[in-house]
Amino acid sequence: MENKPIKSIIVTGASDGIGKATAIKLVESGYQVFGLARRYDKLTSISTKLSSPSSLSTENKNWNYYIPIECDITKPQRFDNVINEIFSKSKGTALYGLVNNAGYVEPGAIEDITMQDIRNQFETNFFGLVGFTKKVLSFMLENSQGRIINISSVSGLISLPLIGVYSASKYALESITDALKMELWNTNIKVITINPGLVNTDINTVSKPKLISLIEKKPPSRFSEIYRKYVHNVPQGLPSDSVADIILKAISSEKPKSRYIVGSRKVKIGIRMKKFIPDRIIFSQVAKRIHQK
Ligand SMILES: NC(=O)c1ccc[n+]([C@@H]2O[C@H](COP(=O)([O-])OP(=O)(O)OC[C@H]3O[C@@H](n4cnc5c(N)ncnc54)[C@H](OP(=O)(O)O)[C@@H]3O)[C@@H](O)[C@H]2O)c1
Repeated sequence: MENKPIKSIIVTGASDGIGKATAIKLVESGYQVFGLARRYDKLTSISTKLSSPSSLSTENKNWNYYIPIECDITKPQRFDNVINEIFSKSKGTALYGLVNNAGYVEPGAIEDITMQDIRNQFETNFFGLVGFTKKVLSFMLENSQGRIINISSVSGLISLPLIGVYSASKYALESITDALKMELWNTNIKVITINPGLVNTDINTVSKPKLISLIEKKPPSRFSEIYRKYVHNVPQGLPSDSVADIILKAISSEKPKSRYIVGSRKVKIGIRMKKFIPDRIIFSQVAKRIHQK
């Protein structure tokens, strides 16, 4: 039987949520995964899940299929060390994929959010992602093959109030991802955008202290009641696994789509219809939700 080379995939933000589910799914599908995030303890805890007998076949068990690496995506001065660590631990596997997933939501109306918080949002969701992609891309270009999967959001296709800065970071990501798709058109490196709707992860837990400080803001914000509502009523979304399944598809299929929208039927139809509905109608409907008493 032909001995296929093992492909390795870097997943940023692998310590939790969508990234964690993706790392597990990819390992179980035979890829070698480098899981990157700041919380090393959470990254290593994934290994215990993978050692269960049902997860990996016997011959696979001899292989180090999951390698956690501490990496803060906002610290470009560390990227060379991270890349060196990846190559020293990959033991000759071909670097095939990069899943740019690390990200968070900086909540707040434009009138409430600080300039520093806006910059922080872009450092992680945009500049960090672009800087790290540039590093990895130079190696992918040497092999002239691979997949770059950028985790955007439905908020990258329709701007939402009170998370406008998050939306802006994802719109910026959309734009640069499209440019990269065209720049890599004549290579065998495919760039794929994933737009999840609401997913059940800890993303809201990360935002919670920020919302609480917005509620306590002096003088009070015009939106303090809505912030309070967001703290207490977290809407239910899809399981992380459903996004991980799509990421696996984007990496493993011969001809992946350029974009996958992952969400309910209502979300998918809403996105498709957006271009046919005047802005005035969309904005008034969405604005109602934050202005009605
Ligand atoms: N949940 C949703 O409803 C939803 C919807 C659409 C899109 N998304 C997108 O999906 C991606 C993953 O979000 P999630 O919902 O899975 O959130 P999550 O559960 O909070 O996970 C976020 C991951 O990003 C990592 N991360 C954050 N800042 C980082 C940094 N500076 N350097 C390295 N890693 C960092 C976190 O790891 P450490 O804290 O350990 O560093 C964590 O592993 C994000 O890009 C998000 O915008 C989420």
